[in-house]
Amino acid sequence: MANDNAIFNAAIKMANEAIDLDRNKKYDAAADKYLSASETLYDFAKFCKNSKLKALAIDKAKQYFRRADALTNIGKKKIKVPSGGKGKGKKSDRDKDSDKSNDEDGEDSEMSDEEKELRKTIEGTIVTERPTETWGDVAGMTIPKQAIREAVVLPMAHPELFKGVRKPWRGILLFGPPGCGKTLLAKAAANECQVQFFAADSASLVSKWLGESEKLLKTLFQVARLDAPSLIFMDEIDSITGKRGTGNEGGGERRLKTQFLQEMQGVKSNRKKLVTIMGATNVPWHIDSAVLRRFEKKIYVGLPTIEGREKIFQLCTKGVDTDDTVNFNELAAQSEGYSGSDISTICREVVMLPVRELDVSGRLTDGDDILNVRPINQQDFFNVMKHIKPVVSDEEIERFKEWTNEFGG
Ligand SMILES: Nc1ncnc2c1ncn2[C@@H]1O[C@H](COP(=O)(O)OP(=O)(O)OP(=O)(O)O)[C@@H](O)[C@H]1O
Ligand SMILES: [Mg+2]
Repeated sequence: MANDNAIFNAAIKMANEAIDLDRNKKYDAAADKYLSASETLYDFAKFCKNSKLKALAIDKAKQYFRRADALTNIGKKKIKVPSGGKGKGKKSDRDKDSDKSNDEDGEDSEMSDEEKELRKTIEGTIVTERPTETWGDVAGMTIPKQAIREAVVLPMAHPELFKGVRKPWRGILLFGPPGCGKTLLAKAAANECQVQFFAADSASLVSKWLGESEKLLKTLFQVARLDAPSLIFMDEIDSITGKRGTGNEGGGERRLKTQFLQEMQGVKSNRKKLVTIMGATNVPWHIDSAVLRRFEKKIYVGLPTIEGREKIFQLCTKGVDTDDTVNFNELAAQSEGYSGSDISTICREVVMLPVRELDVSGRLTDGDDILNVRPINQQDFFNVMKHIKPVVSDEEIERFKEWTNEFGG
């Protein structure tokens, strides 16, 4: 195993050297290193017993091979990866990957090799499928919903309304305590505005292990510009934009943050290509102030109101039989301080109760009883609520209030 690790580490070292050379435009030397890293990773994968690591190694090996291949082309033909916005680059006569390329949008034949390469780089890390959540799945939150409509949905659906001084917001930050629906809201907004959507899970962006996060981020924005109008959603954005000088910030993180700031600046100054960035965080105070400033619109997503809670109880028990005692209004009144996610957990527990009773009594094995699952009742909710307490504390809410007063919301 120690030996395995040594091979893996050697591959990482080579890849890092390749990335440095690549950055310094020493393309030939970078290509050689990428190739060696790729071969070493393939060798490693042959013997690796850990299936996850093996898949990762193969994935990276492929990626490095493609980069090496592309760099060889750059060296020979002086083709440069587009620095953004300008659409398609020159076509190369080498088209090795055409069979595997992104055929989802049907414009495969028009895509240059460089563009294909860009798209491949973000493949696997950035989700581009449109989410299935809709506004209807988001209970309450009238104010955040309206703010998001103005910030994201309207400018993208009616760009003609946003001319002159009426500029759309390019950076929107959703912030608030955990489990209150930030991710849910962002997904519903993406669905609603019908533009190209990119969701970057910050944890995979910070794939520090090969130090390529910056490249990934840069490529993400390049592709978003090519596909404009587009929406980039970066969940848990604090993980890539932490405060400077907090001690545990390495050079890689600093570079990543700098890259992010540059990209955001680029997005703001490019009026032709509408790219909007939506970030979400539950620790806004961990975000660097330079980054915060670039999120022009900050939207607080707080604990649900009584109406919101009522709707969440209804949504989370949809399709399950309830008896006459169930009163959502009363449940909402009794659940002050609970987040949407707390309520969803309560409901999941409640709807399982009748099934569990059947199972414990051994009656699930008699086929007939399955049809006789009892409806859920009000007491079920109260019983479960005794055990599931609100996750978000009053102090935390207070901290959000203070932060909102200082930085806006
Ligand atoms: N307003 C809401 N309407 C309906 N369901 C909600 C609402 N808020 C939260 N939920 C439920 O809680 C779950 C968690 O919400 P979500 O992941 O969006 O929270 P979050 O604010 O992104 O939390 P975190 O800060 O931990 O990432 C949702 O999948 C949904 O089931
Ligand atoms: Mg979230």
